[in-house]
Amino acid sequence: GVPLVVEDVPRRSAAERAAVLADPGFGRHFTDSMVVARYRAGEGWVDARLTGYGPLQLDPSTAGLHYAQSIFEGLKAYAQPDGSVATFRPESNAARFARSAARLAMPAVPHDAFLTAVDALVDADREWVPTGPDQTLYLRPYMMAVDPFLGVRPASEYLFLVIASPAGAYFPRGVQPVSVYLSEDYIRAAPGGTGDVKCAGNYAASLLAQEQAIAAGCDQVVWLDAVEKRWVEEMGGMNLFFVLGSGADAELVTPELTGTLLPGITRESLITVARELGHPVTERKFSVDEWRAGVADGTVTETFACGTAAVITPVGEVKGRTGDFTVGNGEPGPLTMELRARLLDVQHGRVPDTHGWLHRV
Ligand code: PLP
Ligand code: COI
Repeated sequence: GVPLVVEDVPRRSAAERAAVLADPGFGRHFTDSMVVARYRAGEGWVDARLTGYGPLQLDPSTAGLHYAQSIFEGLKAYAQPDGSVATFRPESNAARFARSAARLAMPAVPHDAFLTAVDALVDADREWVPTGPDQTLYLRPYMMAVDPFLGVRPASEYLFLVIASPAGAYFPRGVQPVSVYLSEDYIRAAPGGTGDVKCAGNYAASLLAQEQAIAAGCDQVVWLDAVEKRWVEEMGGMNLFFVLGSGADAELVTPELTGTLLPGITRESLITVARELGHPVTERKFSVDEWRAGVADGTVTETFACGTAAVITPVGEVKGRTGDFTVGNGEPGPLTMELRARLLDVQHGRVPDTHGWLHRV
């Protein structure tokens, strides 16, 4: 593949870094470096470099800004107890990025080049990996069409970039349960659409429904299927799990991957972890009616959402046009918190990594 040229980048001082890392928030601060590579039809990937973080110069006609031929990934690097740094399942992000690219008629970033780019950035900016409780370095690989051309067609030129952002909790209130609004006016994804890939347009199309959720007094939108408005799909940018029963006998249900929801890497990891802890997990359709009735008769004891940014977030209140209900007593459930602790322990290297999920940089 194309070699990655590592430039000498300007670096902020230790004091400037410490000031940011003391309270990084989410997605507000960026490290000293970034990776940029350019693709040209006929030439392939050219000019891959690790360079100083800074503005891009784009022609006003840049195709990706007009037609959203643009995809992204999100993964995290975790400070390990031995002082090293590890990313979590980056191969899965590389694979999903490749699927997203294919769906948007974009060129593939070779699997190894994706991993090399992420590693190079983490390695160059490892001093930016925060070490506070639940702090991480959030990594954002992305690709967009950059042809200066207003015709609607797959571009012939693309930029692939990786940037990094030191991160604390995604939800500023911490592990407080979120309240959710069942969206009936808007949908996130329809059969044959782009719901199962991570493309920019999915997120633009979600914002108004999220605003509606907030106007209804909720924290997050929950998406239903586009056809019957009956099956629960996702919560905002996170996958959902439902706990049936309690204690050692508790079982989990998570919506099956019908093609209209994103196959989350946290979702897949939790399926594995939950089964290891002795809790059966079923991937199947789960309706709003089953959720509501289950909460009413006590069979559905917990609900939580999961994703890279916020890990696991309990769901408390549910609001919708056909009435509101509260899951359990509205507090984080025991299995929710056990799974959360277990996954964080793996990611932060506090328990043995029996699946080879950690990738040392
Ligand atoms: N669903 C959507 C729509 C997302 O954007 C994300 C985040 O990437 C997820 C689910 C969770 O996926 P992952 O666990 O891979 O972060
Ligand atoms: C997630 O990690 O769960 C996300 O949805 C990331 C978000 C910032 C797009």
